[in-house]
Amino acid sequence: MNIKQLLSDIVQKAMVAAGLPEGTNPAVSQSSKPQFGDYQANGVMGAAKKLKTNPRELATKVVESLTPALVSAGIAEKIELAGPGFINIHLDKAWLANQLAASAKDKQLGVTQREVPQTVVVDYSAPNLAKEMHVGHLRSTIIGDAVVRALEFRGDKVIRQNHMGDWGTQFGMLLAHLSDKLAANEVAETALADLENFYREAKVRFDDEEGFADRAREYVVKLQSGDAECDKLWQQFIDISITHSEEIYHKLNVTLKRSDIMGESAYNADLPKVIDELMAKEIAVEDQGAKVVFIDEMANKDGEPSVFIVQKSGGGYLYATTDLSACRYRSGELNADRIVIFTDARQSLHFKQVEIVARKAGFLPDNVAYDHCPFGMMMGDDGKPFKTRTGGTIKLAELLDEAVSRATELIKEKNPEIDSELLSEISRKVGIGAVKFADLSKNRTSDYIFNWQTMLSFEGATAPYLQYAFSRIQSIFRKAEVSANSISTKATITEPQEKALALKLLQLEEVLDSVISECTPNLLCNYLYELASLYMSFYEACPILKDDISDEVKTSRLALCANVANTLSQGLDILGIEVMDRM
Ligand code: ARG
Repeated sequence: MNIKQLLSDIVQKAMVAAGLPEGTNPAVSQSSKPQFGDYQANGVMGAAKKLKTNPRELATKVVESLTPALVSAGIAEKIELAGPGFINIHLDKAWLANQLAASAKDKQLGVTQREVPQTVVVDYSAPNLAKEMHVGHLRSTIIGDAVVRALEFRGDKVIRQNHMGDWGTQFGMLLAHLSDKLAANEVAETALADLENFYREAKVRFDDEEGFADRAREYVVKLQSGDAECDKLWQQFIDISITHSEEIYHKLNVTLKRSDIMGESAYNADLPKVIDELMAKEIAVEDQGAKVVFIDEMANKDGEPSVFIVQKSGGGYLYATTDLSACRYRSGELNADRIVIFTDARQSLHFKQVEIVARKAGFLPDNVAYDHCPFGMMMGDDGKPFKTRTGGTIKLAELLDEAVSRATELIKEKNPEIDSELLSEISRKVGIGAVKFADLSKNRTSDYIFNWQTMLSFEGATAPYLQYAFSRIQSIFRKAEVSANSISTKATITEPQEKALALKLLQLEEVLDSVISECTPNLLCNYLYELASLYMSFYEACPILKDDISDEVKTSRLALCANVANTLSQGLDILGIEVMDRM
């Protein structure tokens, strides 16, 4: 159910009936204030301006044909004309109740499946395997995963691509170091238990130890030429490092699997072909020994083109070359209709360049959308990039463990009697949920301050608040001795709080569509927070289990509760956040 879409179609027809051209934008939106109705159509103003007629007169005509289509049809209670030509639509309570009953029966909660599913390639997480995954990859991982889940819920075909950094010259030094450790009878898993440490050791040797840098370079050459022994060593390194990432995915409740990995190395064999093609098409040129694309479309204010190096003067390929190859693979082999990539905002220029060059070269046909979705940085309380006290990078695994232990303290405080198994399950869901929600609820493109207190608060837009709202509903069901799935009654909408709640519940599809098109899970976070807040107001105003409440009203309100609980848990599930029956 998409009310906005339904109303847009109806208002558009009424506009045509009022003499406006076919295809005039009805500009229907959710009303910002209750006095403006539930939805408003503001399209008349723009149309009147174009036709140079009086908007109010035009709006009157539109309302005339809108009235039978909306009011007589039972969709709206009333339609009002306001100001210079705004049309305010007040939806009918019984109609809302019917729609809600229909979505309650549907396992998709009334969110329709897309008629023509798109194939969407989503590139997210993508840690660099030479090191431990750090907080910078947290955002890509969880924002990407939420968008993926939203796409799948709507019925699109998603192909996850974990573009891991598993290739590059730094592997020479790492493999040389690993081979020495193995020669000294160390087990690879132990040697690589702390990747950060391992990297540091290798780097020190590279900088200070005589002959080591040369050996490292030999390893690079060996790796690139496909030397079997070196390849085995590399494979071992990569495997162990991937296992580290997988532990994090598991903790984070993220859907990425090993089979979603399509690392940089996978494009290796294709890179010479990419360069040959760019040269043959005269898109790239030779410049001081390197192969370069000069991008005039991105010239600076002095008219100097943007410089995009695709092959270094020594013959080495770059991150950029790999991304060009990835464009071709994703559109050609994976048949993507849309490619979505999540990285921090510092890579925005890179992806703009990639897109322009890939389109010119025909690696990315015009009908394939290419959306780089940048995000801001996670900052510490001091407003500076999030680091350890000594200035090191914060390990994701440690951050998540801290979240869970902080949640444990909190839950124990609220619930001293709780048994330890339940405590650990609830704390895990609350702690991880809190970190994810705090991140997902922020405007994607801005930097944000990471703060334990606010994210773990039971008030405000937080995971614990929403999880609490869900568990509170479950406790009502327990008291009423009913189970959520057994409630099949249709809710009757009478009170304003009930209407507000019903309307919000029916707007899930509208929100998901925005989340999907703009890649903004924060809209879903806002929606769920508003839903939970409306539920709290409903709960205050509309008693459910009091003695003087008739059975009819009671079951109707329980039905509304069930709707809210299902939408909360489904919405949180799309964000990758779990709920629990008690807290
Ligand atoms: N590994 C990269 C990094 O950590 C992110 C890769 C993103 N995807 C891509 N196709 N370049 O910055």
